[in-house]
Amino acid sequence: MKHTKVKDLLNSSKVNYEVNAKGWVRTFRNNQFIALNDGSTINNIQCVVDFENTPETTLKRITTGAAVSVIGQLVESQGAGQKFEIQVSHLEILGDSDAEKFPMQPKKHSLEFLRENAHLRVRTNAFGAIMRVRSVLAHAVHTYFQEKGFVYVNTPIITGADAEGAGEMFQVTALPVDNLPITEEGAIDYKKDFFGKHTNLTVSGQLEAETYAMALGQVYTFGPTFRAENSNTSRHLAEFWMIEPEVAFNDLDDNMDLAEDFIQYVIKYTLDKCPDDLKFLESRLLEEEKSKPQAERSEMTLLEKLNFVLKNNFKRVSYTEAIDILRDSTPNKKKKFQYLINEWGADLQSEHERYLVEKHFKCPVILFDYPANIKAFYMRLNEDGKTVRAMDILFPGIGEIVGGSQREERYDVLIEKMKVLGIDEEELWWYLDTRRFGSAVHSGFGLGFERLVLFVTGMTNIRDVIPFPRTPQNAEF
Ligand code: 4AD
Ligand code: MG
Repeated sequence: MKHTKVKDLLNSSKVNYEVNAKGWVRTFRNNQFIALNDGSTINNIQCVVDFENTPETTLKRITTGAAVSVIGQLVESQGAGQKFEIQVSHLEILGDSDAEKFPMQPKKHSLEFLRENAHLRVRTNAFGAIMRVRSVLAHAVHTYFQEKGFVYVNTPIITGADAEGAGEMFQVTALPVDNLPITEEGAIDYKKDFFGKHTNLTVSGQLEAETYAMALGQVYTFGPTFRAENSNTSRHLAEFWMIEPEVAFNDLDDNMDLAEDFIQYVIKYTLDKCPDDLKFLESRLLEEEKSKPQAERSEMTLLEKLNFVLKNNFKRVSYTEAIDILRDSTPNKKKKFQYLINEWGADLQSEHERYLVEKHFKCPVILFDYPANIKAFYMRLNEDGKTVRAMDILFPGIGEIVGGSQREERYDVLIEKMKVLGIDEEELWWYLDTRRFGSAVHSGFGLGFERLVLFVTGMTNIRDVIPFPRTPQNAEF
């Protein structure tokens, strides 16, 4: 007999027929009621064991974490809390789980403890829900772009280019680290390395995506990116997934429209597909917030927050306006910010971004036209000669979720900028070719997938929305 997923059993349109279910025991009560979960849904199916006719040795093996297969009648449940249950006629233990040793006990565990058991935490309700939502969000990303005719491009993971010019890269080498080949000048001889040059893990697929946008029109990437920035925060990972659309003939306004429409689409898609998981995550968040002081609790529940983003336009504000707001803000005047905002040109820290979003505007904000010297080399210079067509989207509780720009399409201006910043023209000869041959206005952005998952699940630490997080001093599993 083929087994049926718990989700399908719970949605069954008929009753009183024989079914087979397989899954893992969440709890076993009164020697009679198994709560069985197989990951297809957050909900368990109750399996009622005929304990009088089941050997004591078998009953003892029905422990939290054990894998079991049950066969029995699917019937309407007499008990409260579930519509259907299985009256078990045959039970088989597929894999035992020592109740004394299994770390995922049916009780509340700290998130820190669960991180240390990342291979087992997915067996909890919360992590099952988070990972299903993450998967649906990924599908939403592809559905959105595919429906709009974007081409999915796989940009390289190993690259010679530093796309962001920030130098926070993991080096890739096949050279023996304890016996490096040295040039006559005494430097490491990368000509002898696997690729015959110095290479890194990519920090962004943007530069390669731009070359594709200049032929295919609308493209997007969705892949892993790596940053060796030593920021041990709740919003930074060393390995994260980024979505980077790039569109020929789009200017910065088109870019903002695309980003806003895209984010609203994927949230709506997930609200439609994951109602049970999101409802669970909403109550989890309410529970977690009870331990916080009133002033720090969010004013909206998770679902209210998600619906708010769907129903309201993102507020578009120039960097210059934002600086004025921050300079006159109470935390700035009372010296409550760690970095005080005194003048135009200051880089915004997450405390400033969060003030703008959470205290001042109380909605998602798109900041644009940043000072050229705090942004990457490829952004288009404005007529004022000091700002660039950059945009960052800031979300409540998250801060920056998207970074993007209109690209500098003018060869001369781009070369000039690269010279000033000391970026090697020869390294990027292929990138410069896009400006030599058929250059055109184009724009794109990068959305950090885990930051989106954080927002949608209401989790507060980025380590809890990726299966096996990579952070400074941590690459377990
Ligand atoms: O703002 P960033 O650095 O922009 C770029 O990489 C551009 N090349 C994107 C583009 O225009 N195509 O990164 C984009 C986004 C950020 O807004 C943030 O959401 C996420 O990537 N991000 C991180 N997420 C998790 N951990 C980190 N260390 C991250 N660094 C950036
Ligand atoms: Mg950024």
